[in-house]
Amino acid sequence: MSDTQLASSGAAPLPHPVRPSVPALPAGTAFFAGQVALVTGSESGIGRETARQLCQQGAAVVLNGRNAERLAQTRQEFEAAGYAVTSCVADVTDYAACEALVGTALEAFGRLDILIANASISQRAYFADMQPGVFRQVLDSNVYGTVFPLKAALPHLVRSRGSVTFISSISALNGMPSGSAYCAGKAAVANLAHTLRLELADTGIHFGVVHIGFTQNDPDKRVLAADGQPVPIAHRPPRWQKSQAEVAAIILRHIRRRRRRTVISALGRLIVLVHTWLPRLGDWIVLRTLRRMRHFYE
Ligand SMILES: NC(=O)c1ccc[n+]([C@@H]2O[C@H](COP(=O)([O-])OP(=O)(O)OC[C@H]3O[C@@H](n4cnc5c(N)ncnc54)[C@H](OP(=O)(O)O)[C@@H]3O)[C@@H](O)[C@H]2O)c1
Repeated sequence: MSDTQLASSGAAPLPHPVRPSVPALPAGTAFFAGQVALVTGSESGIGRETARQLCQQGAAVVLNGRNAERLAQTRQEFEAAGYAVTSCVADVTDYAACEALVGTALEAFGRLDILIANASISQRAYFADMQPGVFRQVLDSNVYGTVFPLKAALPHLVRSRGSVTFISSISALNGMPSGSAYCAGKAAVANLAHTLRLELADTGIHFGVVHIGFTQNDPDKRVLAADGQPVPIAHRPPRWQKSQAEVAAIILRHIRRRRRRTVISALGRLIVLVHTWLPRLGDWIVLRTLRRMRHFYE
């Protein structure tokens, strides 16, 4: 919807509370005061930490996930901390559920300023072994799980000249063995952000992508094996991992600065460099490490 279409629809743009460019903020600054954020997949992990920091910086937040019990626990924890929060159980690969999710934000807080498409299922499975339905499940959660919340939220984000962030991965920058559907989905949403930035340029909405690197996981995080069974994620050296709080702080800075792309970690920036300038070297490194450190990928 363009600004002209918005005007003719009779819906007045909301006051725009986002400052265009800011330096790093001292802790406790309520930069997001008056704004409403929807974070998909925020009952756990990085999404929960991002939601927490948004609340701490003054936003009202809608939490989401598919597990009602875990979502209720997270909501209770946030309410106990005095945060402005509500929640909605919704599978973000279901468009009707996404409409209900956005409806929850509007009903509770009356507007929507920030969408963070974070919900995702990952995998530990080589393409040749993967059941087709499992490939689709992983791809759908990353692609339609991003597209559908945005489709449902778009008219409201136009009104607020809001901000949309797709959570991608550094593994989408070059591809990664045992991550076919996940990498394809994460690369797709990065490309989608670019297209939408062009297509919806006159709306003033910020479209950005954050490519996250290795991050500490909740102990009960599960990804899909080739047969669709949930399994623990591959072991990553702890010293290579950022904490969820560090990653959340980077996501918030990305939103405050309305950045197009943020690549987290030195490894992520190295992948960008090698992929762009020395792609054959990049493949050689991956193939060598795949032979020598197979457990790293599995
Ligand atoms: N951790 C890392 O090292 C890392 C690295 C690169 C990128 N990332 C990205 O960062 C984001 C967060 O990752 P994380 O490590 O925090 O993962 P996580 O702990 O598994 O969190 C993912 C969240 O998404 C929810 N979810 C999954 N499918 C959903 C669906 N269809 N509808 C609604 N909610 C759904 C999950 O809850 P339910 O399953 O109960 O619904 C969970 O709350 C993801 O996009 C991930 O790809 C993470």
